[in-house]
Amino acid sequence: MGKGIRSRWVRFLVIPLLTLIGLYALFVTFQFSLIADIREGLSEVNEEDALAYGEVLFNTRSCNGCHAIIPGKRHLGPNLFGISERASEAYIRESILLPNAVTLEGYKAGTMPEYGDILDEDQVDALVIYLSSLK
Ligand code: HEC
Repeated sequence: MGKGIRSRWVRFLVIPLLTLIGLYALFVTFQFSLIADIREGLSEVNEEDALAYGEVLFNTRSCNGCHAIIPGKRHLGPNLFGISERASEAYIRESILLPNAVTLEGYKAGTMPEYGDILDEDQVDALVIYLSSLK
């Protein structure tokens, strides 16, 4: 008798319970991978946004008035063509915030305004991303 009760209890309670737990675990795993996918997608979009934003800023905050980004041209400031190959992101950032920290040969210190007072952090980030993309 005792055995019969036990196998019924296994059939009607333990098996469905284990099935439920298994399904739940699958669901949680699926959800995590979904969230990871969404996160990855979002960061790609942000990167593209920042790149486009940086380009707009470059062309509207007078950077382009002093800096050419195609080879061979020279304005008041150095040509930024291929800047990413000769300068780190940290250097580019500093050049925007405190352009007079380093005086380049052939250029007059104080020509470039200190953009740390003019642009907000997001704008500086976007410009750094944009300039770092100039191969
Ligand atoms: C009035 C002219 C002028 C404007 C406007 C200007 N710059 Fe400059 N920039 C310069 C000069 C001149 C230098 C060289 C700095 C020095 O030697 O002190 C320089 C240096 C730099 C450098 C370092 C370049 C290198 O090869 O080391 C970067 C990067 C830069 N500027 C980015 C920008 C960005 C981004 C903007 C717009 C937000 C901007 N500049 C606006 C004149 C300008």
